Amino acid sequence: MATILITRQLPGDGVAALAGHTLIGPKHDDSPYTPDELLAIAPNVDAIVSLLTDEIGAKLLTVGSAGRLRMVANVAVGYNNIDTETARSLGVLVSNTPGVLDETTADTAFLLILSACRLADEAGADLRSGRWRGWGINQYLGQDVHGATLGIVGYGRIGQAVAQRATGFGMRVIHHSRNDTGVDGYVADLDELLATSDIVSLHTPLTPATTHLIDARRLALMKPHAVLINTARGPVVDEAALAEALHTGVIFGAGLDVYEHEPIVHERLLSAPRTVLLPHIGSGSMATRHKMVTMACESVATMLRGEIPPNLVAN
Ligand code: GLV
Repeated sequence: MATILITRQLPGDGVAALAGHTLIGPKHDDSPYTPDELLAIAPNVDAIVSLLTDEIGAKLLTVGSAGRLRMVANVAVGYNNIDTETARSLGVLVSNTPGVLDETTADTAFLLILSACRLADEAGADLRSGRWRGWGINQYLGQDVHGATLGIVGYGRIGQAVAQRATGFGMRVIHHSRNDTGVDGYVADLDELLATSDIVSLHTPLTPATTHLIDARRLALMKPHAVLINTARGPVVDEAALAEALHTGVIFGAGLDVYEHEPIVHERLLSAPRTVLLPHIGSGSMATRHKMVTMACESVATMLRGEIPPNLVAN
């Protein structure tokens, strides 16, 4: 019988995959474990089921693997919160939850595309606050989504699911990724994609190479009526530079689900015009979150049976 740390309360009944083992956590009030608490627990558990808000760094992995720790299963497709290099060197397995959240996250990207282009937030806020005094021909003039060129940065599963939706909306779709996809619409030069897109949607993982991929120089390449969408990871965009670009009209608008220093949002983004801000809800449908939890817990169960889980990102 193994011991597994579940860091936070998890939706659904996916934890049932670990029946028969001893489960530790979450805390009664579901507050996050502090780094010191995690350090104390890690050597005494065989696996950790973690969330993207849990920092699983070198020290934790080193201390944990000196004890019993053999696996970290992240309930997320992104795993930039885990030091996978160190995990690999220590023989600690790391898994993520690919595939099950692509469509839901693509829906969120499309929600942001539509609401940012059509100023849905500003218009809705005016209505609720009583500032709307009736229909006006010059009010809330946004950008058309149909007929626009959508530039997708990062053409993995989620990027492709966004492309599929865009086709249905009558958009022209182009995409950029590190390696030639061989698919129609591939643009090798990111700068060229930015300069030719009306809407840009980011779908890259966060790595040292994609940190601040969209900076002031690249924002300046975009069209003045362009809209930037980020459902990937906050640090892919230089938030201060984006806020400046929005305030000064370098680009038209933005739709963001992720931030550089969550849960803190750059204060000039909070006040930026034509900007839709969501609190990292990308994969947040009930069905998808249940599938993510099930996948993470089943991966741990697979490892505990002595088999190799299919969704390892470090092994
Ligand atoms: C969510 O952001 C995820 O990486 O799953």
